[in-house]
Amino acid sequence: MAMDLDALKRAAALKAVEYVRDGMVVGLGTGSTAKHMVMALGEKVRSGMQLRGVPTSQETATLAREQGIPLIDADNAWVIDVAIDGADQVDPAFNLIKGGGGALLKEKIVAASAKQFIVLVDQTKRVPALGGSFPLPIEVIPFGWGSTARAIEGLTKSSVILRERNGFPFHTEAGHVILDVHLARIDNPRELEIALTLIPGVVETGLFVGRTDLLIVGTAKGVETYPATRT
Ligand code: 5RP
Repeated sequence: MAMDLDALKRAAALKAVEYVRDGMVVGLGTGSTAKHMVMALGEKVRSGMQLRGVPTSQETATLAREQGIPLIDADNAWVIDVAIDGADQVDPAFNLIKGGGGALLKEKIVAASAKQFIVLVDQTKRVPALGGSFPLPIEVIPFGWGSTARAIEGLTKSSVILRERNGFPFHTEAGHVILDVHLARIDNPRELEIALTLIPGVVETGLFVGRTDLLIVGTAKGVETYPATRT
C-alpha cells in the first residue's frame, strides 16, 4: 500500500511543535513539511500561546500571517530559540541537503542563529549518504554564473544545471540563481561545503553539516525522534 507522505510530514510537524514553549522566538522553515509546522503553531497561537516567528521565505511569511503568528522584522538582530525546518536528504550523521524549494540561504542564516535546530522529515528523506538521488543546490551570484558553474564542475567532476522555472532562470528571494549539482555520492560533506564556498560567486550551499540538534522522522510505524550533537 502506498504511504501517505503528507500524513507522515504532518505527524513529524505535530511532534516538533511540542518543543515550542510560551514566549519563544521560532525560526519558520520553508516547504511542504514546514508548512504543517507553521499551521500547527498557528493553532497554538490561537489557543493563547505567545510566540514570534522568523520566516525563511515570503511563502512562509504569508502563511504565518494567515495563521496569526506575529513575525519579527528581518532587520533585527534576533535571538531565535528554536528553528524548525524540513530537508531534502538526511544522512546517518544528521547532515542535510536543503534548498529544493530555493530558500536555502535564509534557511541557513536562521538555523545558524537558532539555539536549537529541529529538522523534520518523512522517512523517505533518510539516505545512507548525501547526493545520488537528489542534486545539491548551490546559490550563486548571477554575474558570471556560467564561469562559477564551470569551477563547480571542475571541483566536483559532476554536471551542474542552472535551475529554471517556467523556462527562465529561477531567482531566489535574494536575487541570486541556483545551480543544481548532480553528485554521485558525497563522502565528506564538510570538506565539500568548505571547498565550494571558496569558489568566487558562490553565496551558499545546500549542505547543512553538523547543524542538526534534533531529527524528527515521520514513519509508517510512528514518529521517531533522534537527538544529535552539533559538530
Ligand atoms: C526549501 C527546503 C525544504 O526544507 C526542503 O526542500 C524540503 O521540502 P519539503 O518539506 O517540501 O519536502 O530546503 O528550500
